[in-house]
Amino acid sequence: MYSRHAPVQVADEGTWATGPEEIVMPDFNSLYSQNALNMKKSIIRELLKLTNKPGLISFAGGLPAPETFPVEDLRVAADAVFTKNPEVGLQYGTTEGDPALKAELVKIEASDGVKVGPDNILVTSASQQALDILPKVFLDPGDWIIAGHPTYLGTIQAIQSYQGKILGVPFAAEEDGFDLGEMERRYAAHRAAGMSIKYIYVIPDFQNPTGICWSLEKRQALLRFAYRENLLIIEDSPYREIRFVGKHIPSIYQLDQEMENRGIVVGLKTFSKILIPGARMGWIIAHPELIAKFVVAKQAMDLCTNVFTQRWIAEFLATGKLRSVIENTRANYRAKRMFMLEQLQKHMPTHPDIHWTKPEGGLFLWLSLPKSINTDEMFTKAIAKNVAYVVGSAFYFDDVEHNSMRLNFSFSSKADIEEGIKRLAEVVRGELAAHPQE
Ligand SMILES: Cc1ncc(COP(=O)(O)O)c(C=O)c1O
Repeated sequence: MYSRHAPVQVADEGTWATGPEEIVMPDFNSLYSQNALNMKKSIIRELLKLTNKPGLISFAGGLPAPETFPVEDLRVAADAVFTKNPEVGLQYGTTEGDPALKAELVKIEASDGVKVGPDNILVTSASQQALDILPKVFLDPGDWIIAGHPTYLGTIQAIQSYQGKILGVPFAAEEDGFDLGEMERRYAAHRAAGMSIKYIYVIPDFQNPTGICWSLEKRQALLRFAYRENLLIIEDSPYREIRFVGKHIPSIYQLDQEMENRGIVVGLKTFSKILIPGARMGWIIAHPELIAKFVVAKQAMDLCTNVFTQRWIAEFLATGKLRSVIENTRANYRAKRMFMLEQLQKHMPTHPDIHWTKPEGGLFLWLSLPKSINTDEMFTKAIAKNVAYVVGSAFYFDDVEHNSMRLNFSFSSKADIEEGIKRLAEVVRGELAAHPQE
């Protein structure tokens, strides 16, 4: 317990003022659970606060381009919830999800080659809720998952808040998925040491943060490994539909259905990047037995996903306009991604250790700098020059690398991309001069 000068109530006025009295304040830390003590603030959200500076060009957030939002169609769909069945749309719903929305989700999955029925689906408050349900259901404190090194920060946060551990696997130099040989070696060493490993977490389509897309062969090899070792695969796919170049590759969920159909893949889907993120609407596809378990875990969180929003999105989907929204989004990001690559080529200093990924889809690319440059330390210099990125270190959970950054190309205008990359290149040039490689 500790004490400090505390606000005191001013008699008769019912207001508070700071006075000299010492009162004892509770030591909240002694009350937190181990899970709460393990929770870490999102570095991205903290850094994003710095990027509100006027005139600053931010490549930091993961925001979709607002010009892709079908505002008028969504307004009409929202009106329909009030006019058609308000007694349903404004009421509690089932935890599993609204039947009208689920019927639309079954069609969306079928159009991606995945055969599921309503019993395979749980509607969630976007993918982030699914990422919290998974460790809640599968991990005891000290249990492990396998994930890319680096990987999505929101997943790291969720795992750590359940006292889970992450076995990191580096990506292959070919940028076609994990280095699977390395994964098997690390997995075997952990198993030999008695570690309990529950699932493999992958973002096979245009990974956040690197933009890497898994090849067909690696997806199949990962499945064979999971079959052999009795592991689940969590396939997190918010960017799957946003492909600009290259050919379509089946999802791991589909491949399992075509290979041994063991039902070991859990698919995480969301409308955040293909429609709007503000609706907070997503869904899990999985074996019905797993869905039943997820339902119980979700019940304690929110009873059911926002019913009004489910019906709103279902109304919009029934118009059949999602396809054209996705086409429009793809065209928009394809142009911006090309443009950012051109600007990087034009302005970044030429150096053997300066390179970036050329993603075939998604919202991000990954820029690596020489090891002598620490992008955490460089961040404040970039902010001073009015340009922001996400420090690469935020996406590592151990063995942290400090010489990379994630750049978002979906949100900024072309003019801002040009100016922002120029500013960033200038900051990098300054760092190269200040920290020549040993
Ligand atoms: C890989 C990945 N998974 C999940 C999410 C969470 O998305 P949402 O909760 O908006 O569906 C994100 C968001 O950027 C992401 O990049």
